[in-house]
Amino acid sequence: MVKWYGVIGDPIEHTLSPAMHEFWFQKASLASRYLAFRVDKKDLAEAVRGMKALGVGGFNVTVPHKTAIIPFLDEVSEDARLIGAVNTVVHAEGRLIGYNTDGAGFLKSLKAHFPASVGRKPYVLIIGAGGAAKAVALTLAKYAASHVDIANRTLARAEQLSVSCQSFCPSQVMSLAESVGRMGQYDLVINATSIGLYPDVHASPLQISRTKESALFADLIYRPEHTAFLRQAEKKGNRTLNGLPMLVYQGALAFEKWTGRLPDIPEMEKYLQSLLRQKRRNR
Ligand code: ATR
Repeated sequence: MVKWYGVIGDPIEHTLSPAMHEFWFQKASLASRYLAFRVDKKDLAEAVRGMKALGVGGFNVTVPHKTAIIPFLDEVSEDARLIGAVNTVVHAEGRLIGYNTDGAGFLKSLKAHFPASVGRKPYVLIIGAGGAAKAVALTLAKYAASHVDIANRTLARAEQLSVSCQSFCPSQVMSLAESVGRMGQYDLVINATSIGLYPDVHASPLQISRTKESALFADLIYRPEHTAFLRQAEKKGNRTLNGLPMLVYQGALAFEKWTGRLPDIPEMEKYLQSLLRQKRRNR
């Protein structure tokens, strides 16, 4: 019988996950399918029960269901519980087990593209305190950073995330304006807000002023390839990383959990880059 996998979210029409996983299934000569399902918030419990009953091999979870799905799973990994969100579910022996591969995906993409940047326990600034920021901030705090500071428009949200980070390393909060003045002290600055996402390609969460020469600037957004935030950093002469490698690594970690095989990552980065460029040309 053909094994099947999928992703649930709303909206879901722009997801690259089916293209990514079907490519990898083919490469691995696995007769598996991966489908995208738009699931309304009110139907989440039923959708999860239905997928389980129909024998799904596993599935990804995206906005707005990453936190809401937790009560409907049989088990949740320690890191997913810490982050408070699940993006990958494995169906094994009649049980649905939730994981979060977003944070680990970001860390792996960082290690692959800029290995030296993690070797020295970076001093990190995260801009944003939403779901994506939480996964990346807590993963870096637990596994890689010397400090993780949080800048956000809503300080109360930054405060909450910072307190969670403090279980692993020192962490301070600040306003977006304050972070501009302190930018020069960070080794790694990450835009984890949605500001700059297509079609708002000229928007940036802040104006980058002074930077440390060796600092790396990352954006979790991959559409556009170079956000206004990354373009400012590039102008200062800093190295940059966009969100596409994170997307590929979080997917690769999910694929590995489902199949036991680690797929080809550099090839996928090139494939998705060409898909995105093609989409841009067709707009
Ligand atoms: P996601 O799951 O993609 O992280 P989210 O949980 O809605 O989405 O978080 C979005 C992040 O972008 C938040 O940090 C949000 O700031 P607030 O916590 O103050 O809402 C930030 N953000 C979104 N639009 C913004 C704007 N126009 N100005 C400043 N920050 C913004």
